[in-house]
Amino acid sequence: MSLRLVFILSLVVLHPGPATAEYRIAMIGTGDVGSALGPVFAAQGHTVVYGSRNPDRDKVRELVARTGNGASAASQRDAARDADIVVLAVPPLLVEDITSNLGDLDGKIVIDPTNPMTLVDGRFERAIDFDTSNTEIIQQAAPGSRVVKAFSTISWQTMVDPSLAGGPVSVPLAGDDAAAKATVAGLIEAMGIEAIDVGEARDARYVEALLLLWINNRFSDRPAFDYHLRRL
Ligand SMILES: NC(=O)c1ccc[n+]([C@@H]2O[C@H](COP(=O)([O-])OP(=O)(O)OC[C@H]3O[C@@H](n4cnc5c(N)ncnc54)[C@H](OP(=O)(O)O)[C@@H]3O)[C@@H](O)[C@H]2O)c1
Repeated sequence: MSLRLVFILSLVVLHPGPATAEYRIAMIGTGDVGSALGPVFAAQGHTVVYGSRNPDRDKVRELVARTGNGASAASQRDAARDADIVVLAVPPLLVEDITSNLGDLDGKIVIDPTNPMTLVDGRFERAIDFDTSNTEIIQQAAPGSRVVKAFSTISWQTMVDPSLAGGPVSVPLAGDDAAAKATVAGLIEAMGIEAIDVGEARDARYVEALLLLWINNRFSDRPAFDYHLRRL
């Protein structure tokens, strides 16, 4: 093997495709998380298409203009159709219905940032059984897709500006497809955030529980705290 070939191969190994590839990303939902991640991904060179129940309203038009890099908006289903990656930035208790209405998601990476919790008697509780997770619910609703839990542990403000964390900040990833997790890790690392693979889709149950641990202290007399898993 020539030295030149060895050099080229070493570049491929050291710089795997996902971090540098440009993707078409369907951002389903134009709320706090969708409006935060859309412009961030566009700034990385990806093409963002927002999936909205009302893509023609002024707020969505402004978001599309602010996002740039060829961004657009469409219905949720139309946005997902040609996307490589679909982000479900939607109300956490609607993920099953919304996923089922997105059409064929076979082969697509689906990013699940949702936290399935609900307020019960002034206290936040898990809104689904402990023997499942939203990630698993989404995976079952779209069996051919490649679901990755990501972003559920940081605020939309930190997604836009990771320095708000005051130090290294990380995002745990859970999902059954290793290549999909590597692609999502590439997007996250390009944001200046550490990605930490914490396991399979079922491990998302524990990722989802982290916010519950945090939020009930945040809104009580007990001490508020932040948490950022840190790679050793
Ligand atoms: N806020 C955070 O800092 C944060 C951080 C990490 C994770 N999360 C999680 O990320 C997800 C999104 O959070 P968010 O704060 O962005 O929520 P949000 O501001 O309420 O936005 C959710 C978006 O989903 C769409 N939507 C609302 N109702 C819908 C319905 N009935 N059917 C279909 N689409 C609907 C809407 O977009 P259109 O009006 O354009 O359709 C809406 O703007 C949640 O599951 C949350 O747990 C939030």
